Amino acid sequence: MPSLQPPRVVNIEDLRRLAQKRLPKAVFDYIDGGADGEVTLRANVRAFEEVVFCPRNAIAVAQPDLRTTVLGCELSLPLILAPLGFTRLFHPEGERGAAQAAGAAGIGYCLSSFSGYHVDEVRKVTKGPLWYQLYIAGGSEVVEASLERAQKAGYSVLAVTIDTNFPGQRERDLRNGVPQLLSGEFFEKIPFVPPLLSHPRWLVSYLLDRDVMKFPNIIVNGKAQGVTDVREMLRQSTITWADMKWIRQAWRGPILMKGVITGDDARRSLDEGAEGVIVSNHGGRQLDNSPATLHVLPEIIDAIAGRGEVLVDGGIRRGSDILKAICMGARAVLAGRAYGYGLAAAGADGVARAIEILRADAERTLILLGCSSVQELNKSFIRR
Ligand SMILES: Cc1cc2nc3c(=O)[nH]c(=O)nc-3n(C[C@H](O)[C@H](O)[C@H](O)COP(=O)(O)O)c2cc1C
Repeated sequence: MPSLQPPRVVNIEDLRRLAQKRLPKAVFDYIDGGADGEVTLRANVRAFEEVVFCPRNAIAVAQPDLRTTVLGCELSLPLILAPLGFTRLFHPEGERGAAQAAGAAGIGYCLSSFSGYHVDEVRKVTKGPLWYQLYIAGGSEVVEASLERAQKAGYSVLAVTIDTNFPGQRERDLRNGVPQLLSGEFFEKIPFVPPLLSHPRWLVSYLLDRDVMKFPNIIVNGKAQGVTDVREMLRQSTITWADMKWIRQAWRGPILMKGVITGDDARRSLDEGAEGVIVSNHGGRQLDNSPATLHVLPEIIDAIAGRGEVLVDGGIRRGSDILKAICMGARAVLAGRAYGYGLAAAGADGVARAIEILRADAERTLILLGCSSVQELNKSFIRR
């Protein structure tokens, strides 16, 4: 396994490069890419770069305190690993590896409905806070059963994704032949196979992982659904506000609506029984030309007006990005690609290294800001 320490790995971009090296282009682009012209994908990252810090200098901070609590979950850092579907394709350790690394670091992990591991298998590797992300794939009965299993296994928060009522078009996936590779006939796949063969390390682990193409938490007629049906499943899992009634009944714990980028949807989320929102544009993978999440965060915080929790994701690549979001009033952030690259590069160890990089950044930044705790951060520490 490649070294994950300096000089080889200093930041998340280094993990991204290692992931790119290990993975075939089709798999790397699945993680790295965004919808259409990738305008929103770039905007998310740029929005963080546009925020600058206003430190309090000549202040000694002995023990920077990054701890926070989100919906009853105590976190060592205001970070939750975002739900990423199909991560078993990146690395056979997949969701189990990510959850294990998150738990060991004392942060949260949100499992995608499109996980390659069963909720119980993920629970077995960590005692840390686990959340469950919901797509209503398979219909309400299938979903109710999956929510029951997740609750029994101790998943404490439900994130209901509302920005995916039609699969976004990722142009890189089309060029790489992803639809053909997933569900095409044998002869349609052939032109897209050679690039897979040129990454033997990934190929061997993929071929040895017999369950990689299944979604064990979406069980229809007693059978786990296959990855080949994913686009069709998404098309058939259109969610509307009316669904919140039965979802609210089926889930006994807190609910966050994920994919909120307007004040109106934030207010509606609370009206429909959610405890808060995740300001998210799906990492720029769904509606391109959606605003950068950091740009709409103030509008959402105003709309929620302290009546619920506001979390944000999209574009977190450095620990300082976490602090910028907290300064702007977010309770915590979720990061997707930042740990996805680590997972693809080196499994659970790569995720652990991604978290370590983000934590060290955040700790150093807090000291340099002259602030002893994330609880004390506010707008006066930043300028846009
Ligand atoms: C490869 C990949 C798969 C994703 N799968 C899901 C998913 O299954 N459910 C979901 O709600 N969001 C999914 N997302 C969106 C993430 O949860 C999150 O909103 C996004 O990654 C945040 O942006 P960032 O990658 O810049 O941190 C996915 C994102 C990526 C990159």
